[in-house]
Amino acid sequence: MRRARLPLAALMLAATAAPSLAGEAIHVMKTSGCGCCVAWMDHLEANGFAPTGENMHGGMLVQEKIAAGVPPTMTSCHTARVDGYVIEGHVPAADIQRLLAERPDAVGLSVPGMPFGSPGMGPETRREAYDVHLIRPDGTTEIFTSYAKGKG
Ligand code: CU
Ligand code: CU
Repeated sequence: MRRARLPLAALMLAATAAPSLAGEAIHVMKTSGCGCCVAWMDHLEANGFAPTGENMHGGMLVQEKIAAGVPPTMTSCHTARVDGYVIEGHVPAADIQRLLAERPDAVGLSVPGMPFGSPGMGPETRREAYDVHLIRPDGTTEIFTSYAKGKG
């Protein structure tokens, strides 16, 4: 019986030693009527981020996108800022985490438009194929991740 105690104690020690993950702050600029923006923020929160939302008029939001360096072809419904990067649209949390880990020389990431089945845009199993784009400082883009059509 004594032997069973050691693994448990070791487990508890490991749990205590793990770094406490205070959610990565991410600020989301959006318009007030946008439900999918809120659904995307829920997705971020469920994946370890601490999102804050800010509603603004559509014209102001467009100004924010331009100021942030998001090319017109890359725009979507919301614009977020996290740790020096811009996140435009329904970008999966996993891609943001990879961006923050790799820290490329870039403006940030975008999922242009609002593809069905991207986070906050309906079930993943029924998603349409879409790409996450990396926006370079010169405004050019390259594909960061490709998501295939869902098999639902
Ligand atoms: Cu949206
Ligand atoms: Cu949105």
